[in-house]
Amino acid sequence: MSRFQQQIQSAHAHLQLQGIHKRYGSVSALDTIDLEIRRGEVFGIIGRSGAGKSSLLRLLNRLESPSAGQVLIDGQDIAGFQGKQLQALRRNVAMIFQHFNLLANRTVGENVELPLRMAGVPRTQRAARVQELLQLVGLADRAGHYPAQLSGGQKQRVGIARALVLQPQILLCDEATSALDPQSTQSVLELLRDINQRLGLTIVLITHEMQVIRDLCDRVVVLEQGRVVEAGEVWQVFGNPRHPVSRILLSDAALPRKASHPGQRYIDLHYTGDRQLQPDLQAIGAALGEGVSLYSGTLEPIQGRYLGRLRLAISNSTPADVLMQRASRLADRVEWV
Ligand SMILES: Nc1ncnc2c1ncn2[C@@H]1O[C@H](COP(=O)(O)OP(=O)(O)OP(=O)(O)O)[C@@H](O)[C@H]1O
Ligand SMILES: [Mg+2]
Repeated sequence: MSRFQQQIQSAHAHLQLQGIHKRYGSVSALDTIDLEIRRGEVFGIIGRSGAGKSSLLRLLNRLESPSAGQVLIDGQDIAGFQGKQLQALRRNVAMIFQHFNLLANRTVGENVELPLRMAGVPRTQRAARVQELLQLVGLADRAGHYPAQLSGGQKQRVGIARALVLQPQILLCDEATSALDPQSTQSVLELLRDINQRLGLTIVLITHEMQVIRDLCDRVVVLEQGRVVEAGEVWQVFGNPRHPVSRILLSDAALPRKASHPGQRYIDLHYTGDRQLQPDLQAIGAALGEGVSLYSGTLEPIQGRYLGRLRLAISNSTPADVLMQRASRLADRVEWV
């Protein structure tokens, strides 16, 4: 990469990790991590348990310090921050958690108010700000309730309101929807998308739920044993996962295996988003001829590109290589199964 390109890239970088290593005693949790996270993007981190995801996230607000390498925010190395600078960093980089971490003996309003108190914001300003935030997360009428009186989704909304109350530019989410039912997950995701777009917040999130990445993220990295093994736009990584671990995480185990019918052949059309192809059933029928039926498939539009695969059952006698050649025009990748 030329120096000029590097400068352009860095101009867009909100967060940079350069040559990061993180060791806990003899355990190496992160190993040679180089990453740039752009301003205003939603950046996903996935990986198996113990891969180093939380360790990486905790470096971004100095809950942890790297054993080697640098963490830069807005181009500034945060390693030496102390006193006021460290306080400002903690205000700028907020976090939400899987188990919400709300104070049970404080009301919703008091929970959201707490960071303002600790930052020394005068009482009169605090009340207005708390109300504003509760409105943003759709809980304006719950200020006097206690956490135990709320659903999981509502508790996480309070967590989000509390995280945003000091107007951070970066929000870190460690498994923020893992404890929620699917409906609450959807509503929290919508809220996160909304604040990302409305407030221009940079969001870095860890999740084990692939639909969270699919629905919310712009880019994603896959961590394995402390290293980045895959990185890219969500449509690229989901459409064509290259590393075995990514394939496991994104496994399409839901697709049924082929049934064995004598005289029947099966061909898979893979849509990876590369050529922005549309699964056109009429074109498929026309290209492959008589005796072609849709056997199974999953397709999903992600960021405007169709990703997934269609499995076709073929009962005509057209030679395999001819069918293969015709089918390869219809999809990004084609294989006999
Ligand atoms: N405070 C710590 N002290 C010692 N070892 C730690 C500490 N935190 C994490 N580790 C180790 O570092 C490695 C990475 O842990 P980390 O919590 O970052 O993984 P993770 O990807 O977040 O996993 P999970 O999906 O289970 O949350 C693991 O081997 C873990 O045991
Ligand atoms: Mg973790």
